[in-house]
Amino acid sequence: MSAQRVLTGITTTGTLHLGNYVGAIRPAIEASRKPGVESFFFMADFHALIKCDEPDRLAHSSRAIAATWLAAGLDPERVTFYRQSDVPEIPELTWLLICVTAKGQMNRAHAYKAAVDAAVAAGEEPDANVSMGLFSYPVLMAADILMFNAHKVPVGKDQVQHIEMARDVAQRFNHLFGQGKEMFVLPEAVTDAEMELLPGLDGRKMSKSYDNVIPLFEGGSAALKDAVARIVTDSKLPGEPKDPQGQAIVTIYDAFATTEQRAAFRAALRGGLGWGEAKQQLVALIEGQIGPMRERYAELMAHPEKLEATLQAGAAKARAIAVPFLKTLREACGLRPYTSTATTAVAKTEKAALPVFKQYREADGKFYFKLLSAGGELLLQSSGFDQGRDAGQWVARLKREGWVADAPVQREASEADITAALAAFQED
Ligand code: TRP
Repeated sequence: MSAQRVLTGITTTGTLHLGNYVGAIRPAIEASRKPGVESFFFMADFHALIKCDEPDRLAHSSRAIAATWLAAGLDPERVTFYRQSDVPEIPELTWLLICVTAKGQMNRAHAYKAAVDAAVAAGEEPDANVSMGLFSYPVLMAADILMFNAHKVPVGKDQVQHIEMARDVAQRFNHLFGQGKEMFVLPEAVTDAEMELLPGLDGRKMSKSYDNVIPLFEGGSAALKDAVARIVTDSKLPGEPKDPQGQAIVTIYDAFATTEQRAAFRAALRGGLGWGEAKQQLVALIEGQIGPMRERYAELMAHPEKLEATLQAGAAKARAIAVPFLKTLREACGLRPYTSTATTAVAKTEKAALPVFKQYREADGKFYFKLLSAGGELLLQSSGFDQGRDAGQWVARLKREGWVADAPVQREASEADITAALAAFQED
């Protein structure tokens, strides 16, 4: 059996906090040690350009995130560890993909819609704050993933839509240029419950935007202590029995503790352990694991030439895959040396594939469906339904009756194309 390729990137716009470590870095490194797993981890610095117009901040963030991966125990020999911007084949692939991506589909990207909503709310033009970089963000991300034919992409829930888009784009490219072959693997998002698990100081998800983070390395053990001191608890006094259930401090403790330590911590709280004392125990527990990493981190930050050499070696490894693959892709879409003998089989096998309805649920909790042509082109996009059943009934009706003028859908192609696609279901 061939290896499972796992790939993920981190945008280099800031430094990492404890939630990033517990939710993303630690599980990724653990998974990378399993047999049969081939991991690709990278600094998404091209993505950072979209959001960051401070060059020094971007450069520092990239260096700090690279040092964090290594300090946390990533073995660069075992995985492919690189900077996105060291692999020029990625932006080139982005262009090949952009040319087969429907603009209508990109209009529905959450990040883009959020920017539009914010502008409209502020009384500005809808696209006032939208660069083409922001708009094309999901296609660059698709190129990251498809370049290495990743099977699994561990991401936060907010990124799942992007993986869906990458699948759609891959499918379309396969159909147009694959000549029956799968040029790209269709990637799947992996959203570990653990990825969302670590609460911040106030009990909400740990996130820079809530200003509730515990820093990972920045500020040393003093900053760790300060942050832990600010974890919100109830106001029970030392000696009073405490209910561990639902306390942020307990969940954070759990993320670093063995089963026995977890049980002991809970028992101590029920037995009246004071919150101050509990926080000291938490600091000691985290420091025991993070402390040695922080030293390695400081060492790596003090020796940028070592880090740089590691990343150059990683880029060479990544390009050993990307360069020949891109050559194949270029040939497939007609960018060929004049001496090339490759041709595209003229007679495309007709009727091999059928259009498909896809039903899915979005982050807003609503149910949607869409109709894709055999080639993966978006034809119809439904609006959101509260009940999955209602979406299903509309799909059934459209299959049965063909185009229905008052269907709660948006047309994304000509009516003729849609009618023809729907007719395929009736012939079945
Ligand atoms: N967009 C991702 C984020 O902000 C980062 C990212 C860029 C990524 N390219 C990727 C994640 C490819 C997974 C795969 O979190």
